[in-house]
Amino acid sequence: MKTLIFYDSIGGNTERVAQAIHETVAAAWGDADIVKVRKETAVDFTDYDLILIGSPVIDWLPTKKLMDHVMGFMKSENASGRIRPSSPIVPGRFGVCFGTFGGPHIGRTEAVPMTAWLRAFLEHLGCLVLHAWHVPGAFQNRDELNRYGRLGDIRHRPDEADLADIRNRVAGLLASLEAFRQ
Ligand SMILES: Cc1cc2nc3c(=O)[nH]c(=O)nc-3n(C[C@H](O)[C@H](O)[C@H](O)COP(=O)(O)O)c2cc1C
Repeated sequence: MKTLIFYDSIGGNTERVAQAIHETVAAAWGDADIVKVRKETAVDFTDYDLILIGSPVIDWLPTKKLMDHVMGFMKSENASGRIRPSSPIVPGRFGVCFGTFGGPHIGRTEAVPMTAWLRAFLEHLGCLVLHAWHVPGAFQNRDELNRYGRLGDIRHRPDEADLADIRNRVAGLLASLEAFRQ
């Protein structure tokens, strides 16, 4: 299955998660594209059978750069009539949303709008969205938020255990999709 890991990351936490996902897919299936969003990035999301899209949580949502990119892509898809009423599910097209978050005030609930936003994008493309993975990620230079928030002490997150958990989840995801591999 043609696989894309598409993400943004400001401080590097989400990048580490994206790389762990990429390494796991590449090791199991031999190939996967990984792209960090940039203004000039041109990715045709509809080229892929499996899209894993991720962001840090910034004010409960994905980064502005990622949202702008997604909306730019949606605009061009809409203009060419490819976003159809009911957004029919495309057979064999799957998605996963992921991201890192600090959860200092209300915990994981702060991350849910972010992955819900990404899920809405993937579902407009006809993806069956299988998972939303939320990984704790420390703020840079915000000791109080990293020590006393709802998630407790997140100063060194994501840590090796978080990345091992993500690799494990990816292995499970790939196993679940085995019947769709060509
Ligand atoms: C400007 C800014 C706003 C943030 N807003 C939130 C937020 O609303 N909720 C939350 O849980 N974490 C928030 N965070 C914490 C980040 O989501 C978290 O540290 C994340 O792991 C950063 O990922 P990155 O290193 O890939 O950029 C914010 C961080 C920054 C810098």
